[in-house]
Amino acid sequence: MRITVLTLFPEMYESFLHASIVGRSIERGIVSVDFVQIRDFAHDRYRHVDDSPFGGGAGMVMKCQPVLDAIDSVRTEQSHVVLMSPRGTQYTQKKAHEFSEKEHLILLCGHYEGLDERISRHVDEEISIGDYVLTGGELASMVIIDSVTRLLKGSIKEDSWSDESYENDLLEYPQYTQPADYNGEKVPDILLSGNHQKIREWRMAQSLLLTQKHRPDLYAKHTFTREEEKILKKIDEGKL
Ligand code: ADE
Repeated sequence: MRITVLTLFPEMYESFLHASIVGRSIERGIVSVDFVQIRDFAHDRYRHVDDSPFGGGAGMVMKCQPVLDAIDSVRTEQSHVVLMSPRGTQYTQKKAHEFSEKEHLILLCGHYEGLDERISRHVDEEISIGDYVLTGGELASMVIIDSVTRLLKGSIKEDSWSDESYENDLLEYPQYTQPADYNGEKVPDILLSGNHQKIREWRMAQSLLLTQKHRPDLYAKHTFTREEEKILKKIDEGKL
């Protein structure tokens, strides 16, 4: 998969692209990340990419021409152009899966007070990573690159993410590792029992209970499988 980032600040990505799973996936050729410096498309001698807003007001607005020319320099039939924007659709794990199927993702990072509204007519969608305002889209694009890369075949083992939080609208069950007793804080006995069916049931129950407690909104939307319904019954009967 190819990801192209359109930004004024490519230097922000340096350590991010060299570390951990993203770095390894780039080295292995599972994903490639390239950059377009939007400023390279400015025509005036001072390479301006922004100007003051029509109608007055604080801050600067990114201009249509350099941004749209930057998009056109890399867009092909296979490209999916995403604008990072606090007003966009909320990013979710489902969207990460959808993006991981794309051949070429173009991530457009705005800066300053925003972008000329006409630019949004030239993108495929606008995405927000949460209800807060960042100084620019760069961190949001890193969130997308990170979450999409780990879903690509060969990046990490599928079982490392298939049970995870959000994969089935439930939060992940708690994990423990050595030692089994840390200063008197013990790992649940069931996890040391070697009984795989019991461990599976316990994990499913924990996942359901944690979601109910921490994310009642997700829990309310969840469609329960037969197995989960059986687990809930066992919880009600005090058997789990
Ligand atoms: N740019 C500024 N704030 C943002 C947000 N919350 N999500 C995506 N892009 C942004």
